[in-house]
Amino acid sequence: MSITIVPVTEHFVAEVGDIDLSAPLPPEQLRQVRDAFTRYAVLVFPGQTLSVEQHLSFASNFGPHETTVAVQMSGRKLRTRQEIADIANLDADGQIWNQKSRTRMFQMGNRLWHTDSSFKEPTGYVSMLYARSIAPIGGHTEFADMRAAWDGLPDAMKVRIDGLIGEHSLMFSRRRLGFTEFSDAERIAFAPVARPLVRTLAESGRRNLYLASHIGRIRGLEDETAEALLSELIAHATQRQFVHTHRWREHDLVMWDNRCTMHRGTEFDDLRWRRDMHRATTEDQPDLFAISTE
Ligand code: OGA
Ligand code: MN
Repeated sequence: MSITIVPVTEHFVAEVGDIDLSAPLPPEQLRQVRDAFTRYAVLVFPGQTLSVEQHLSFASNFGPHETTVAVQMSGRKLRTRQEIADIANLDADGQIWNQKSRTRMFQMGNRLWHTDSSFKEPTGYVSMLYARSIAPIGGHTEFADMRAAWDGLPDAMKVRIDGLIGEHSLMFSRRRLGFTEFSDAERIAFAPVARPLVRTLAESGRRNLYLASHIGRIRGLEDETAEALLSELIAHATQRQFVHTHRWREHDLVMWDNRCTMHRGTEFDDLRWRRDMHRATTEDQPDLFAISTE
């Protein structure tokens, strides 16, 4: 049976129905998902019932799983497998975290515009975030289309930034929130990674901005100039016409392309509601798409 793809926005977000992600996908359905993912960059799969294994198994269609950054965080205990990024406001025992919890301060970074794992080598490709339980108020996720944002830049700005290299680190985004207490092991694990500010998507040839609050330096620019440029570009890219807000329903799985989107979480009362989200992210391999769709 053919899957159903319903656009949520004209070019950026679509919902996918008549598909069951808990079982291996027939090749034709996988092809349709890949095509939709090239055209849009965010896909929403409502009403999925997934175990951790089923979630990871769907993700593996899009490359090798990355390991959650939590394994490199001093003193952090995992609630589930290390291939899952635990986005819940829960501690390792499944209780709502404490106001002063270090994990809470760290996860606050998800409220800043970013793209997943831009600070890793290899960087993040597809993220799949699955809602096991949601907050009844707030806790939405916003997505920005970095292809459209590139297209919408003035020519002079395109010329100015093409070829610039940003340095990405988790420590840079956390520093923006005033969080600077890192252990020596974390400082080594989170050493900056260099990435171009502008990139091209292999399968569509489209160019896009590659920005994140993880950027703390731009090579060849003074820190002040870099910071001013970065905030100007992020402000441009997150104008309303480039942004979609996803309002979660329980058992939505949302997948996005980290190469050409930014996202951020919105506020909710995280000391009151259990918002239990699991994310699987795969590693970027520039030629993976070309190989697997042959
Ligand atoms: C993520 C993320 C935001 C949210 O899962 O990578 O940034 O709304 N999530 O939970
Ligand atoms: Mn994220």
